[in-house]
Amino acid sequence: MSNFQLSLIDTANSVEIALNEMLKKQGNGLMAAPVHHAVLNGGKRLRAFLTIHSSNIFGVHKETAIQAAMAIECQHAYSLVHDDLPCMDNDDLRRGKPTVHIKWDEATATLTGDALQALAFELIASLQNVDAYKIVELSKRLAKASGMQGMVLGQAQDIDAETSTKILSLEKITALQQNKTGALIEWASTSGAILAGQDDKKLLNYARLIGLAFQIQDDILDIEGDSLIAGKRLHKDINAGKATFVSHLGMDNAKMRAKELIDRAIDSLVSYGDKAEPMRQVAKFIIERKM
Ligand code: IPE
Ligand code: IPE
Ligand code: MG
Ligand code: MG
Ligand code: MG
Repeated sequence: MSNFQLSLIDTANSVEIALNEMLKKQGNGLMAAPVHHAVLNGGKRLRAFLTIHSSNIFGVHKETAIQAAMAIECQHAYSLVHDDLPCMDNDDLRRGKPTVHIKWDEATATLTGDALQALAFELIASLQNVDAYKIVELSKRLAKASGMQGMVLGQAQDIDAETSTKILSLEKITALQQNKTGALIEWASTSGAILAGQDDKKLLNYARLIGLAFQIQDDILDIEGDSLIAGKRLHKDINAGKATFVSHLGMDNAKMRAKELIDRAIDSLVSYGDKAEPMRQVAKFIIERKM
């Protein structure tokens, strides 16, 4: 295993330990088990990694970064639980385990997503030793990235594209993905700068590039991936006749495009020196990953 993969696992472990502790404090109510299943069922923790290592560039306190990372992982887990619902993608497998509506039922899965979204904002609001205006800024940005101008809009555009008879243009697919997948990746990648009260322009540029490359890789894996490794059902886009980056560009060009985006993302962090090395490594991983 490469040093980078070990560091990804290490970051994932710290966040998962913290998530587990935090959930214990939420008590043993009816929602405890499904929420636990939804957020502690594995996952690469890429958004957590981006949050923690963007924070590290600016010397943000580790505990603070981990709590912000927990928040974005809760928000991401919420989006996955709802994405898998029968009325959305109707998936029975996520991170190699049964989805929440399969293990429980649809009402429980809907409420699990709702609870996780609330939890994400509770975690941000409860950040210790962080100026109130930074908390407000992070919350506002997460709300915007998640809602009707962000992830939710992207999901709506995705469903609309599936049901429409028109094939989406590459520009429209790019805009859709920027909302659906890009917005939460942007939040994670820039959160370190916000926590440090620093300019986030370079990280925003980086995030846009890796966000797009991330989704191109998701589309590639839908065709070339192995469901056992990916931990989710594949060939869904192709079977649905969905327009994706791959259907537009062809497989080879899609791979080339993703590589170009990652090269640009890596270059964009040059002024941060060695401190940004994990952010460069994770950018490479995004297009090498098989899961
Ligand atoms: C999957 O995200 C959903 C998309 C936004 C395409 P990830 O590939 O980051 O999923 P996990 O968190 O590792 O399971
Ligand atoms: C999911 O996109 C995006 C969000 C959850 C916001 P997909 O539907 O393409 O993700 P997978 O392929 O199910 O992981
Ligand atoms: Mg979907
Ligand atoms: Mg899906
Ligand atoms: Mg997909």
